[in-house]
Amino acid sequence: MGNRVTLLLLVLVLCYGVGMAMGYREEEDWRREREERGKGEGEDWFLLQDSKHVVKTDAGDMRVVKSLGGRIIDRPMHIGFIRMEPKTLFIPQYIDSTLIIFVRRGEAKVGCVYKDELVERRLKMGDLYRIPAGSPFYLVNTGEGQRLHIICSIDNSESLGLGVFQSFFIGGGTNPKSVLAGFDPETLRTAFNVTGAELGEIMTRQQDGPIVYISESHPPSIWTKFLQLREEERLQHLKRMVEPYREEEQPTWSWRKLLNSVFGQENAMDDRVGHRAPDSYNLYKKRPDFRNKYGWSVALDESDYTPLRHSGIGVFLVNLTAGSMMAPHVNPTATEYGIILRGTGTIQIVFPNGTTAMNAEVKEGDVFWVPRYFPFCQIASRAGPLEFFGFTTSARKNRPQFLVGANSVLHALRSPELAAAFGVSEKRIQRFLDAQREAVILPGTPASPPGKDNEKKVVEKVIRSFGSDLVMGFD
Ligand SMILES: *[C@@H]1O[C@H](CO)[C@@H](O)[C@H](O)[C@H]1NC(C)=O
Ligand SMILES: *[C@@H]1O[C@H](CO)[C@@H](O)[C@H](O)[C@H]1NC(C)=O
Ligand SMILES: *[C@@H]1O[C@H](CO)[C@@H](O)[C@H](O)[C@H]1NC(C)=O
Repeated sequence: MGNRVTLLLLVLVLCYGVGMAMGYREEEDWRREREERGKGEGEDWFLLQDSKHVVKTDAGDMRVVKSLGGRIIDRPMHIGFIRMEPKTLFIPQYIDSTLIIFVRRGEAKVGCVYKDELVERRLKMGDLYRIPAGSPFYLVNTGEGQRLHIICSIDNSESLGLGVFQSFFIGGGTNPKSVLAGFDPETLRTAFNVTGAELGEIMTRQQDGPIVYISESHPPSIWTKFLQLREEERLQHLKRMVEPYREEEQPTWSWRKLLNSVFGQENAMDDRVGHRAPDSYNLYKKRPDFRNKYGWSVALDESDYTPLRHSGIGVFLVNLTAGSMMAPHVNPTATEYGIILRGTGTIQIVFPNGTTAMNAEVKEGDVFWVPRYFPFCQIASRAGPLEFFGFTTSARKNRPQFLVGANSVLHALRSPELAAAFGVSEKRIQRFLDAQREAVILPGTPASPPGKDNEKKVVEKVIRSFGSDLVMGFD
């Protein structure tokens, strides 16, 4: 037994390339954090269900699923869901977190500052786009009679730590409040060189919240006007709004400029639209990195889409056919956040010590997370395909280590020592490992015939005799 454990530890070290001391420490942290939060063995730890509306108006809403904090998670990342009705605008703002947006459904136009230029990009289903922290941006639903659904990662590593994230609305009134509203009225009056009445009018008109209608059937707002400007003018407006935030220059903060930029009064145009700025990237257009009869997967890293480098975030998309599973694997370099886009299935996550951490059914819209080093697998239900999408906390190639399947680390470690580690003969382990010919995405078991219980017992017996602590955590 001692030998076996030692060898298993060796296997773990080889697989993950980390010292065991670290493994223990993480587990220690893990246990402590769970206890501190007063959650026992609950599976809700890995399903992020704490969703909160940060914006809610007639025209749309934004919901954020908060990640857990603490040391176990190398980089907490929140997941945002934005829903906008047709002909609506998410008004200009800047946020203290970097967003990577993914257009789930519909079409959008995003206006955003890149370096000191402003760009507008049209986005369609499957497109990814990065909005850096501190860059003012706005979003317009351009889909004809179509709702816009966006999923985004919210990386608040640069945040102020005030909450999930902090929006700074440049324009605004009573709802949302403009960042200007915090100043003493007398200060603003002087700064803008306007009367109290003029100031009052400007600062209280916007009452519809951060997502507003811009259609004819709704009373025209300043934002309708904003969007009716020619593109260059609009960019010009936004650009002037952000001037104070440009890092390269000493801020030349001018309230009048800001007022003009938001509420009209044209100035001469002196700049053209930025065309050097990064484009969006369509995830559905990328050739799958892996594909077989049972599904496919795509992973996007900084070598595919350079804006990801600045965020240190990777993106993936997986489609499993009904009943298939992503073979048990671990991410040695990244924590993973997944969102179910379509279908139903099961996610199993295993503690590094080989006990089950979660075995939960998931459905469309559910968010799960898997800490690095934790083995896990996703299984599509027999009812239909399971499609999920997500973010990893590393922009570099995330090389998942498969624990099962034709490309598993067990194959790589095939040796007398491995057989000894499991306490069986080499021939036996050979047979055992060769039984699964597929890799990465594996077929499901055929629908269980009667006598399922009996079959299950046999499987359990085999696993027990096989004695893999690693495999034991899985069902
Ligand atoms: C395995 O680790 C988890 C999390 O730290 C802990 O709750 C569980 O009791 C451990 N199980 C065993 C058998 O050590
Ligand atoms: C403020 O406005 C007044 C009258 O509109 C104008 O005469 C004055 O020059 C302005 N001051 C500044 C600093 O712009
Ligand atoms: C996922 O696969 C199913 C068939 O298994 C297919 O109908 C569906 O369109 C695929 N999804 C994507 C995004 O390609």
